[in-house]
Amino acid sequence: MQKKLGVNIDHVATLRQARGGEIPNLCQAACEAVQGGAEGITVHLREDRRHIQDHDLSDLKRILRVPLNLEMALHWDIIRIALKVRPEKVCIVPEKRQELTTEGGLDATLKFHKLKEIIPEFRSKKVEVSLFIDPDLKQVETAATLRVPAIEIHTGSYADATGSRKKKELERIRQASREAASLGLKVHAGHGINYKNIKPLKKISEISEFNIGYSIICRAVFVGLRQAVLEMREKIEEKS
Ligand code: PXP
Repeated sequence: MQKKLGVNIDHVATLRQARGGEIPNLCQAACEAVQGGAEGITVHLREDRRHIQDHDLSDLKRILRVPLNLEMALHWDIIRIALKVRPEKVCIVPEKRQELTTEGGLDATLKFHKLKEIIPEFRSKKVEVSLFIDPDLKQVETAATLRVPAIEIHTGSYADATGSRKKKELERIRQASREAASLGLKVHAGHGINYKNIKPLKKISEISEFNIGYSIICRAVFVGLRQAVLEMREKIEEKS
């Protein structure tokens, strides 16, 4: 199965917000990523609006010819915006105001009742919901109980681990992916994935999609966004 690549362009907006103007243009960045081989564009509308702004969602929705994936926390004001904009996909993530980036996966068991209330709303608007969870079998089973079509496995612990711990984290991802697929869930993966650590992940056959941001945007500083995405696509397709 050909694995898809979704490119997270939050940090293009981080750069724009640094001066509060209109450059770099987010839609142009999205188009460059698509030209490089992105099969989806991902953005995270945070409660504090530190990078992506409300208008970015409607702007992207208007111009994109590939699916828009909105990462969002379970906050009512964000949920309302998402239901109005209707991106093709939403990925429900935990969010803390002070964090630099999304730390850890959503506790779907703890948030079960709220998720049970929200998910049908998105389903009725034909928005595909995925839950951003740690590679934990209990979380996978909860996601299946909630009847979401997909999960995104948080790969941050794997990305950060060193030595023998890295192998253990990879095994957790492998097992969670297998369990999810056996329960009929699509498996996506994201967080901290770069041009090097993607190699063992791409061998996990159940993973059908990667969502990658930071490493691609960092590479883009030197080679341009289109080329940086192209190189990641090549890494995904590379035999070995
Ligand atoms: N997937 C989800 C759900 C995320 O929250 C993030 C970070 O915004 C990513 C993927 C991309 O992570 P990174 O920027 O580390 O590649």
